[in-house]
Amino acid sequence: MGSHSWLMGLLFWFFSISFVCVNSQESASSVFIDGKTVIGRIDDDFICTTLDWWPPDKCDYGTCSWGRASLLNLDLNNIIFLNAIKAFSPLKIRLGGSLQDKVIYGTEDNKQPCVQFVKKDSEMFGFTQGCLPMHRWDELNAFFKKSGAKIIFGLNALTGRTIQPDGAKGAWDYTNAESLIRYTVQKNYSVHGWELGNELCGSGVGTRVAADQYASDTISLQNIVQNIYKDVEPKPLTIAPGGFFDAKWFKEFLDKSGKSVEVVTHHIYNLGPGVDQHLVEKIIDPSYLDGEINTFSQLENIVKSSATSAVAWVGESGGAYNSGHHLVTDAFVFSFWYLDQLGMASTHDTKTYCRQTLIGGNYGLLNTTTLVSNLWECIFLSLV
Ligand SMILES: *[C@@H]1O[C@H](CO)[C@@H](O)[C@H](O)[C@H]1NC(C)=O
Ligand SMILES: *[C@@H]1O[C@H](CO)[C@@H](O)[C@H](O)[C@H]1NC(C)=O
Repeated sequence: MGSHSWLMGLLFWFFSISFVCVNSQESASSVFIDGKTVIGRIDDDFICTTLDWWPPDKCDYGTCSWGRASLLNLDLNNIIFLNAIKAFSPLKIRLGGSLQDKVIYGTEDNKQPCVQFVKKDSEMFGFTQGCLPMHRWDELNAFFKKSGAKIIFGLNALTGRTIQPDGAKGAWDYTNAESLIRYTVQKNYSVHGWELGNELCGSGVGTRVAADQYASDTISLQNIVQNIYKDVEPKPLTIAPGGFFDAKWFKEFLDKSGKSVEVVTHHIYNLGPGVDQHLVEKIIDPSYLDGEINTFSQLENIVKSSATSAVAWVGESGGAYNSGHHLVTDAFVFSFWYLDQLGMASTHDTKTYCRQTLIGGNYGLLNTTTLVSNLWECIFLSLV
């Protein structure tokens, strides 16, 4: 019921806004919304945002847009930031991104020094491996608890594999991830979901992992989680694969992972690279935006026709990849893309939609320097 009224509210906003604009020139018209037929259901906490790992020296096309917005250096004492998250309560926050598959956790089993990412052009994604120290994980969890956020943590899915030109080979070595999960449970930190990997499905971004291997690794993750949370309630969700939709790969993955995957996540960057000079034209062109319907409906069909009980989420979506585009993806015009996406996702039975980013890059909902709200959609969303 709550979720339904949320959607109706959003639709109402859409229509009332367009009517204010249209009615100034045209005669009155009316819209009938048939509330009897349900075409999809969203989670009560449909709105989700992301936090990423990118260090301040992550730059795209000569612009370094991340500032101190990384999980490793965000100012967790900033009251504006805290209140922004509280205002959406409960806000889902997915922690992840390209560098997540290069993060090691500074748990007891880790024998390497727990050091930060270092810029290195020859490395995948331009950085060396980095480490999450447990004292930082403690601080983050204290903050998340205070803010009431529901956390989805993206695990490094490349540990133990050998990266070859045609993809990452071998099984996932979950030792370090298992320690992190164990540590998290021992400390009684609340994690809503554990997600395996980032953009390794289909043809992959940095590298790829085959669907059958990924399915068996997801089964491992589910086993670890079940074991560690044996006496703990509520149990977290097992989420995968967190990458771009590829019909053949997703079908095989869902068929082979059985009941072990509870949420199937896909990423959306349907506007092209942030450097594109025609982003605004695409954002205000309904037929361009509708191009994404194909992905949503294919995934919806695969989820329905597979034996899986998994539901679909958009796990990360920032519109324009490589950090977005200043004055476009952090400006009013981007609301048209975002609201259209939320509507499209919900009509295709997507339960949760994670917007890249809450803060960081040129697509943050919050200003990276001031942590003040960037976007009009924040105001819309807080009203509905
Ligand atoms: C663990 O956390 C939950 C909710 O976050 C709380 O209700 C419970 O009392 C905590 N248990 C301990 C032992 O701190
Ligand atoms: C963020 O705030 C700074 C400082 O006020 C300002 O210079 C910058 O343009 C803002 N960014 C956006 C996207 O509005």
